[in-house]
Amino acid sequence: MKRTFAPQVTLISGASRGLGAALAEELAAPGNHLVLIGRDALALESVSAICRTKGAKTTALVCDVSDRADLETLGARLDTAGLYPDLVISNAGILLGRTEGADLETRDAARAVLSVNLVGAIGLTALFLPHMLEQGRGQVLFVSSLAAFAPLADAPAYSAAKAGLLSYGLALRQALAPRGVTVQVACPGYVATPMARRHIGSRPSEISARSAARTIIRGVSRGRAVFGFPSALYGLARLSLLVPERLWWWACARLRFHVAEDR
Ligand SMILES: NC(=O)c1ccc[n+]([C@@H]2O[C@H](COP(=O)([O-])OP(=O)(O)OC[C@H]3O[C@@H](n4cnc5c(N)ncnc54)[C@H](OP(=O)(O)O)[C@@H]3O)[C@@H](O)[C@H]2O)c1
Repeated sequence: MKRTFAPQVTLISGASRGLGAALAEELAAPGNHLVLIGRDALALESVSAICRTKGAKTTALVCDVSDRADLETLGARLDTAGLYPDLVISNAGILLGRTEGADLETRDAARAVLSVNLVGAIGLTALFLPHMLEQGRGQVLFVSSLAAFAPLADAPAYSAAKAGLLSYGLALRQALAPRGVTVQVACPGYVATPMARRHIGSRPSEISARSAARTIIRGVSRGRAVFGFPSALYGLARLSLLVPERLWWWACARLRFHVAEDR
């Protein structure tokens, strides 16, 4: 269903770099107030400055989405400012997984990934749903991953968080559609961002952050429940659970990777 897409207040988490920064820059236009969330104040400010040159108003707020107190402070600050997002893009995420030479990711890494990529995403959007429901309108986009369909042996918790987000988003979509709130899930393949640079291994069909941001914005305006890209990889990822397991493992062998350790 094609709809007019003209958000007035758009909140983007993980807007300080990578895909979130590209989304902010693509959405920056007169009439759109961008609320940019991340942990790195300086980086957020430089993305804000670019968005302002394109005519958008911006509010940059430091918030760790995995920290409950931070989320509460964020909600209170936006309330005080009277800023109620009509589009929330929950994009913040981290990639942790098996490091070089290790057999598996650590338990700490698994916990951290789930707490940012899944619990944090749910906690962030929950801040804004009551107002959207009251207004009878609003839009939420979760940035998941093709790993939601085709789990990565080298990043199990990341895959689980993204599958959880896909499932959560679809459930929320069904619950909120009758109340005028649209929920969608985007599933990107490989995107050239600082996160991707920590993925040491092959990244077939990688696209730029700008191109991914444009595809996501098109997807949001079309209102589809789930959309993945690039389309060939999306098709393969969706098929992955239907093909014989050994055949899939064989096909994925050249995509095995490790994650660079945090410096
Ligand atoms: N790159 C890919 O190939 C790819 C593929 C599929 C899906 N994705 C997904 O796309 C999203 C964006 O990824 P990206 O590639 O742009 O990664 P990125 O370059 O590492 O950027 C991640 C963003 O998330 C923010 N962030 C991380 N932890 C946070 C926290 N606890 N609280 C608030 N903000 C936090 C970071 O900002 P601060 O450091 O300032 O907090 C940064 O702005 C992620 O959800 C990722 O899983 C990426």
